[in-house]
Amino acid sequence: MLHEISLTVNGDLHTLVVRSHHTLLQVLREQLGITSPKRGCENGECGACTVLMDGLPVNSCLVLAPEADGTTIETAEGLSAGGELHPLQEAFIQHNAVQCGFCTPGMLMSSKALLDRLPHPTEDEIRDALVGNLCRCTGYLRIVEAIQDVAARGEEGKPK
Ligand code: FES
Ligand code: FES
Repeated sequence: MLHEISLTVNGDLHTLVVRSHHTLLQVLREQLGITSPKRGCENGECGACTVLMDGLPVNSCLVLAPEADGTTIETAEGLSAGGELHPLQEAFIQHNAVQCGFCTPGMLMSSKALLDRLPHPTEDEIRDALVGNLCRCTGYLRIVEAIQDVAARGEEGKPK
């Protein structure tokens, strides 16, 4: 079955015809060409597909396309809109929190949601916020340090 949906992605309104069994992840990647949300497990385990839906992190592989109708979606592409890296992106680079990079867009979005909600989280709160984002490479320490650095600088999760 086909549905017409409208959703705002990184500030741009899109009206699309989607298949009812397709996911938000498929819509973003295949219909809109937004490829930062990664296709990992496709069953809600890895967090590589994490985007913000109305400000909250979701696994886009678990959201059916019709469920995204009327929502506002943020992806990693939107973090550097305007040409400057978001403080979280800079901190991930500075702290070597990116290795293969497959988890990074999802990590960034979960981190942004955390800092938007809680500008000065404890280490436990950071680790709790990332519990749904798996990383095979970094051991998490560098990611946690990058987020702590942004919080300490008072830059929160917001763009410059
Ligand atoms: S691809 Fe969505 S949680 Fe793994
Ligand atoms: S940097 Fe490779 S999975 Fe996280």
